[in-house]
Amino acid sequence: MNFNLTIYQNTKSWKLRLIIDLMRLTFVDRLESVNNKMLGLSFGSLGLIYIVMLFGVYIAASHQGLSCKGWPLCPNGVSLPPEKYFFEHFHRMFAIITSTIVIVTAIYAVKKVRAARKFSVVSVIIIIIQIILGMFVVDSKLEPLLVAAHLSTGVLLFATMLTTFLITYRLKAR
Ligand code: HEM
Repeated sequence: MNFNLTIYQNTKSWKLRLIIDLMRLTFVDRLESVNNKMLGLSFGSLGLIYIVMLFGVYIAASHQGLSCKGWPLCPNGVSLPPEKYFFEHFHRMFAIITSTIVIVTAIYAVKKVRAARKFSVVSVIIIIIQIILGMFVVDSKLEPLLVAAHLSTGVLLFATMLTTFLITYRLKAR
């Protein structure tokens, strides 16, 4: 917000306008910056969830679901994977990064953006369930029911994070 003192000198109730503008500076602009951060966090989470889902669907469609037999990481740990389980490795790595950002988004919402609190906390619960399901998918050697549950929970996670994003977007547009 631009703050030019000369505009107040010609105005009748300039003191009142000055107070109102100072209040805008402190409250409205701060609120705007909080909403911008929340918008960025929820959009980042959404993008990451989308990438993890793309990797997952590619793994399933190309029958690479059992290339890494352990959990939570592939045998190479966090270092660069051989071609054999490239996609599985990145599905899991991105799942870890995504979970971290989803948790940060929820903490931020709980502290600063009341309206987006519910859906961002639900997203954290769903992502925990999704990771546990991922473990069962691997352990059960791709039991179809578990793979179906893993896919639909992924879609549900995308939906709750999209709702978080849209709630924040509406707050900003007001
Ligand atoms: C943010 C968390 C995660 C999301 C959103 C996610 C999403 C997905 C999606 C959408 C698929 C495709 C399912 C299909 O088309 O049938 C998939 C597949 C798979 N995911 Fe995940 N996933 C996540 C975390 C994990 C974790 C932590 C593991 C295990 C360590 C895992 C293991 C797998 C495996 C093995 C497949 C392949 C299943 C198959 O070959 O049929 N996922 N995931």
